[in-house]
Amino acid sequence: MALLPFDGISLGCDYNPEQWPPSVWREDVELMREAGVGFVTLGVFSWALLQPGPDRYDFGWFDEVLGLLHDGGIAVDMATATAAPPPWLTHAHPEMLPVDAEGRTLWPGSRQSWCPSSPVFRDHALRLVEQLANRYGSHPAVRLWHVSNELGCHIGKYWCDVSAAAFRRWLADRYGTVDALNDAWGTAFWSQHYSSFDEVLPPRITPAVPNPTHELDFARFSSDALLDYYRAERDVLRRLTPDVPVTTNLMVSSHQSEQDYFRWAPELDLIAQDHYLDARLAHPRAEQAFTDDLTRGVAGGAAWLLMESATSAVNWQPVNVAKRPGELLVDSLRHVARGADGVAFFQWRASRAGGEKFHSALVPHAGRDSQRFREVVGLGDALRRIGEVAGSRVKADVALLFDWNSWWACDLGSHPTGELRYVDAVHRWHRAVTELGATADVVHPESDLAGYRLVIVPTLYLASDATAAALDAYVRAGGQMLVTYFSGIVDERDHIRLGGYPGAFRELLGVRAEEFAPLPPGQTVALDDGSTADLWTEVLTAPDAEVVARYTDGPLPGTPALTRRAVGEGVAWYLATRLDDAATAALADRLTRDAGVTRLAGAQPGVELVRRGHHLFVLNRSHDPVKVPARGLDLLTGERVGGTVDVPAGGAAVVREEET
Ligand code: GLA
Repeated sequence: MALLPFDGISLGCDYNPEQWPPSVWREDVELMREAGVGFVTLGVFSWALLQPGPDRYDFGWFDEVLGLLHDGGIAVDMATATAAPPPWLTHAHPEMLPVDAEGRTLWPGSRQSWCPSSPVFRDHALRLVEQLANRYGSHPAVRLWHVSNELGCHIGKYWCDVSAAAFRRWLADRYGTVDALNDAWGTAFWSQHYSSFDEVLPPRITPAVPNPTHELDFARFSSDALLDYYRAERDVLRRLTPDVPVTTNLMVSSHQSEQDYFRWAPELDLIAQDHYLDARLAHPRAEQAFTDDLTRGVAGGAAWLLMESATSAVNWQPVNVAKRPGELLVDSLRHVARGADGVAFFQWRASRAGGEKFHSALVPHAGRDSQRFREVVGLGDALRRIGEVAGSRVKADVALLFDWNSWWACDLGSHPTGELRYVDAVHRWHRAVTELGATADVVHPESDLAGYRLVIVPTLYLASDATAAALDAYVRAGGQMLVTYFSGIVDERDHIRLGGYPGAFRELLGVRAEEFAPLPPGQTVALDDGSTADLWTEVLTAPDAEVVARYTDGPLPGTPALTRRAVGEGVAWYLATRLDDAATAALADRLTRDAGVTRLAGAQPGVELVRRGHHLFVLNRSHDPVKVPARGLDLLTGERVGGTVDVPAGGAAVVREEET
């Protein structure tokens, strides 16, 4: 991964000057300087104005904006402007419009009305990219290319005939023969045998449960189709402007599961990520910390760029919660603590018209004379003060395994319970570890695990042989590992691993389950160590493991719920149920202690501690001031810290630590 092309820890934003008259642009640059904006993403939704007709371009206004920004010392992340096609294009070529699973066309009138496999869309989009690359690729303000925008944001899967043909080509590449496809999809079931690839459709709505491997492959194809489109734009940019790095803003989040970003990462010169707090969740900030750690995992541990976030409320949740004073700073520092080398926002100036006019911005409707803009200026100042953090790495002793394929497969229908959500299972463990002051890298199951003291494998329903072998080797070499319920159940084709659950990990864990016994919503079970659990139990035996806890009630009293097996130099734990928060925290406490995981003193729910390089980040979301052990210099206040740092309620500290 390349280093970020902006200086220090930069403040950035989307800049949409086409929404404002030129008289506002000058003031914009002035205010950007006041706020300390280091870069802007320009032109994301400018296609219709940059190219008013098939053979007409209007770059004059764009030249002027770019000149103003450059004169103001503001760098540009140049969008390729292809995210929203102009009406003249969709009008001339309705065949490029997306179609959903029910066969409904998604019409123009908002944005993203294009299909990534459409040759006519691609042709027009790539021509625009070429124009922009030729015209602006060597402009001194342009430091980064930004392909399209949140690829797959509103529609991640496409069911049109053009996509159906692309899906068939993708399948032919993957399987070679239709017999291999029949085998992988288990088409002997329900008379689904195909005689030719030509008979295969995308999984459009069906009378009963669709073939799950068909759905899983369509999910893989859909991620690849958007990635392929990204590559097409990137290749034009690389050919014409080889010195300018290329990225696109990913959406690593808990609501967006349609792109396998571990596959995307090698194609990007740097990882850029968008994150919006989701007030619908029980723990929105814990979800932010999780996606930050996953983004770092996608970036292979390198620094990444937060390309979009909100200074306050968004406008697309049922109730759009505003940030309270101070939250903008602490939320932004959370991204930096967890590996971001830049914090950017959608968007510079709050729109006065259009579908996002109630979305927060750096300059709100109230203008410069506002608490929000003053906080933005304060944020710019804080990021400047902590600039020396840029490029440093987050140190994590815990690896949490995460896989999009497993997510897609786990959340398909017709499973033992419809109540299980993969991401909830992963979050629960991430939050427990974080609240203890430990840091987790969220990584792909086939990553190198050698450096980690503890590996947590939450509900990894789909696991490859390579994953099973790597975990076996990790434990035998001295690693400590926890696997939780409904893991290792199927292979990459979504075929059950026979002989007893959890097939892929059964031998390593020394356990064997013959049946699942999920619990109805609201029902809990007690364990003989005092824990409470819900959602899931299994008819489990432990032929080759120590039983640490058993159920005392529920459908399986006396049955093992938590087991531990010493293997080689290491230890493999199995948890066959979903513990409540307190019991999860208690088990995380024991595991991290046993494994010798570094836990930063002073962490507790509401007080987050992360060490990045030689810097200790203290984020206090609690309602009380806290004292945290530290020695060095608090970069935010400029004050020496000689043993403990005092952090006010809702405040933060970034301490450059002295070597002790
Ligand atoms: C996404 C998009 C932006 C904007 C924001 C609003 O991140 O990329 O254009 O719509 O959402 O939250």
